[in-house]
Parts: sequence; structure tokens; C-alpha cells
Amino acid sequence: MSDKAFAGQVGIITGGSSGLGKGIVERLASEGLTAVIFDTNRDLTTRVEAEMKEKGYAVDSAVVDISDEESVSRGFEYVRTKYARLDVLVNSAGITGPTADVITNVTRPDFDRVFAINVRGSFLVTKYAVNEMKKRNYGRVMLIASVSGKEGNATAAAYSASKAAVIGLAKAVGKEYADTGITINSIAPATVETPLVLNSSPDYVQRQVNRIPMLRMGKIEEVAAAIRYAVSPEASFHTGFCFDVSGGRSTY
Ligand SMILES: NC(=O)c1ccc[n+]([C@@H]2O[C@H](COP(=O)([O-])OP(=O)(O)OC[C@H]3O[C@@H](n4cnc5c(N)ncnc54)[C@H](O)[C@@H]3O)[C@@H](O)[C@H]2O)c1
Repeated sequence: MSDKAFAGQVGIITGGSSGLGKGIVERLASEGLTAVIFDTNRDLTTRVEAEMKEKGYAVDSAVVDISDEESVSRGFEYVRTKYARLDVLVNSAGITGPTADVITNVTRPDFDRVFAINVRGSFLVTKYAVNEMKKRNYGRVMLIASVSGKEGNATAAAYSASKAAVIGLAKAVGKEYADTGITINSIAPATVETPLVLNSSPDYVQRQVNRIPMLRMGKIEEVAAAIRYAVSPEASFHTGFCFDVSGGRSTY
């Protein structure tokens, strides 16, 4: 029998083709997880899947838009039919939307788009994952929120509000399933150098880094290591919690 923590387990990592999601796929797959990437970016996903397979990892993928229930339903059906189990869900798909404008310049379509992906997407993948996990009375759900959801980042109102909603979602659903083997948590990273951050307003990014007491961005590997613990079988007494990876920025 393998001594790898995730041997025999199957997990879905949304947004697994880039940034934090890709780092999480690599970390969990290196410890035995069969990792299924759900992402909208077909080309990138094909490349990442091939890269991971070359390293000897069991990685699979499906093109899924987490904001679209039909697409989410098809993605979960694919996993159910092929693997007949689901142990882990990490929801890393997300967008920032506007990061350089005060609220009077934020349009309703921009606001709605951020909520459709970050909030409706988190709701849908959590709902479908828990429905699968219930069958075996075991599961680990991790929703990536952000420190902006705790503190509020000026010029990123839609993003901050959406991430506060993600934290609230995990708190509520964690309690709903607290008497089962399924845990549901969120995590609030401070700024980490990924394509999402490189595409944000430089002034916005600098302001956020200045607020981190460690005076640096986090690393993808640091976030992946925290999540690796929180979705492992040994993390059995945490639910409805928001984990911290903020270099000292978050005080609660
Ligand atoms: N990088 C940071 O500093 C930071 C800090 C705190 C929180 N976060 C959060 O971490 C998560 C990952 O961020 P990242 O920096 O890795 O971003 P990223 O842009 O590098 O990766 C996001 C991935 O999600 C995919 N995606 C976007 N919309 C999707 C959808 N509707 N359905 C499926 N896939 C979709 C993209 O194709 C991409 O592969 C996000 O939720 C983000 O808000 C990031």
C-alpha cells in the first residue's frame, strides 16, 4: 500500500490550469491524488495536463465554466462516470474584475461577472461536490477566497465583496455537514505572484503588498502547502473555517 496521503483519492481542482490552481494540482498529484482540472481555458488545460503526465502524475481534465450550472453538471457527471468517487474539491477558479476604479466607475456587468464566477461558481461546485461526497460520507472542500474578503481592498469592491461571500458560504455549509465526514473550508491568501496578479493594476498590487507585514508576495508553493494540509484526511477537525496565508496581513 502507498504511503502517499492522497493515494486512491480523486479530486477536482477548478482553475487548475494556471497560478494557484496549477500549483495545487501539482502538489496534490505528487502525493497520489488523481486530479481532474476543471477550467475554461482549453489550450492551457491541454498543455498543463500533458506537463503533469510527463512528470508521472495522474491528471485529467474537463472544460468546465463554474458559473454555468449545465457545464458544472456535465463536469461532475464526467468524474462520476469515470471514477465513481470524489474525495477532494479545491475551487481555485476566480477573477478579480476591476481593480483600478472606485465604485462610481464600476459597471453593473463587471460587478455581475465577478459575482457569477466567484460566488455562483463557488456555490455550484460546492453543491455538486457535497452531493457526490455524501455517498461515501467523506470529503474535503476548499474554496479559495482572499484576504480582500476579510478586509476589503479599495478599488476592488466587486472582488472584495465576492470573496467575503465565499468565506460566508464555507462557514454556512461547513456547519450544515459538520456531523458528517465532509469538511468545507475557505482560505484567504494575500497577494501571490500569478497571472491574475500580473494582469491587475500595478498600483493596486503594490498597495496590497505594502500591507503585508512580511513585505513580500506569497509563493504559489506556500499556498499549495497550506491547502495540501487542509484537504488531507488528517485535517478532520476543521470545518466552516477560513484559513490564513497572508504573511501576517490578516489579524483574524
Ligand atoms: N494570486 C493572488 O494573489 C490571489 C490572492 C488571493 C486569492 N486569490 C484567488 O485564488 C484563485 C486563483 O487565482 P490565481 O491567481 O491562480 O488566478 P489565475 O488567473 O492564474 O488562474 C485562474 C484560473 O481560473 C480559470 N477560470 C477563470 N474563470 C473560470 C470559470 N468561470 N470556470 C472555470 N475556470 C475559470 C482561468 O482560466 C485560470 O486558469 C482565485 O479565486 C483568486 O481570486 C488569488
